Amino acid sequence: MTQAQATDTHPGELADVPGWFPPLDQTLFTWFLDQQKKAGIKGDLLELGVYMGKSAILLGHHLQDGEQFTVCDLFEGDAPDEANKAESSKSYASLTQQAFERNYLSFHDTLPTVITGPSSLVDEKVAPDSCRFIHIDASHLYEHVYGDIGAAHDILLPEGVVVLDDFRSEHTPGVAVAAWEAVLNRGLRPICLSTQKLYATWGDPEPLQEELLEMLRQRSDVGLSLQEAAGHRLIRTRSRGMKPPPFPPSRHYVEPVAASAPAPRVAESAAARPARPAPSRARRLAKDLLPPVITRAVRRARVKRS
Ligand SMILES: C[S@@+](CC[C@H](N)C(=O)[O-])C[C@H]1O[C@@H](n2cnc3c(N)ncnc32)[C@H](O)[C@@H]1O
Repeated sequence: MTQAQATDTHPGELADVPGWFPPLDQTLFTWFLDQQKKAGIKGDLLELGVYMGKSAILLGHHLQDGEQFTVCDLFEGDAPDEANKAESSKSYASLTQQAFERNYLSFHDTLPTVITGPSSLVDEKVAPDSCRFIHIDASHLYEHVYGDIGAAHDILLPEGVVVLDDFRSEHTPGVAVAAWEAVLNRGLRPICLSTQKLYATWGDPEPLQEELLEMLRQRSDVGLSLQEAAGHRLIRTRSRGMKPPPFPPSRHYVEPVAASAPAPRVAESAAARPARPAPSRARRLAKDLLPPVITRAVRRARVKRS
């Protein structure tokens, strides 16, 4: 994973927050969370791996009355093993908890509950069967993702949605192994796949899949296809130039200054062109009366003389 560009200024818009959260996934998160609200599903939200807060800020926006939002990240703390340490120092070296909190509080009045430390802590800190939506985006190494999926299984409500980041990226084979292993052996049922994330549930994916297909078929900016694999229906989605969904700006947003109006374009006219010295009367007469061949000969003779 390449390093996202860190900034030390207050973000004005979600687009200003560094991170890895493409428009298609912003759209899918928004749709799943809104859909749960419409269906009257209540439950807490959980994110493992927040980095600078890009996806957490969007998740926090969907918090309903009485719900809790918990996030977990190592931030500047020590990773639990050497491989995780190498992963973190390569990709997240510029991360600080302060930067996450500054970004989050630019959009929200209060912070979520922050667990500072490895994601293996969440199983003991978050109540079983309490969450309606979990985003797993912490370490991308197999052992950690395996553990995070196990914790999500305990914490997620039966109808809840879990999202696994980087489940098929070339540089994160451990997530791919853990994700498909969970599908084949741990009862996880895919709802849909984006380029970057797998959306799944331990409940029945079909009603959600039907509603999702209905929404996606109305959009011209999503490529869509269906495949069967090992008895699972997979909805594949990809962006076709998709723009992020509308999201409220932060408290630091400054309206861009309207560019000063361009000067009205004056149709080129003889009056607008720079004035040329008027030709002498003799030259005007010569031009009008003599054929072009002769005027050229006269000009050549003049040049020779001078
Ligand atoms: C890919 S980034 C998260 C991106 C973020 N969700 C976004 O929207 O931009 C992964 C994050 O996981 C954190 N992390 C890495 N290993 C971890 C672990 N074992 N436990 C908890 N967090 C971890 C890193 O510090 C980093 O902030």
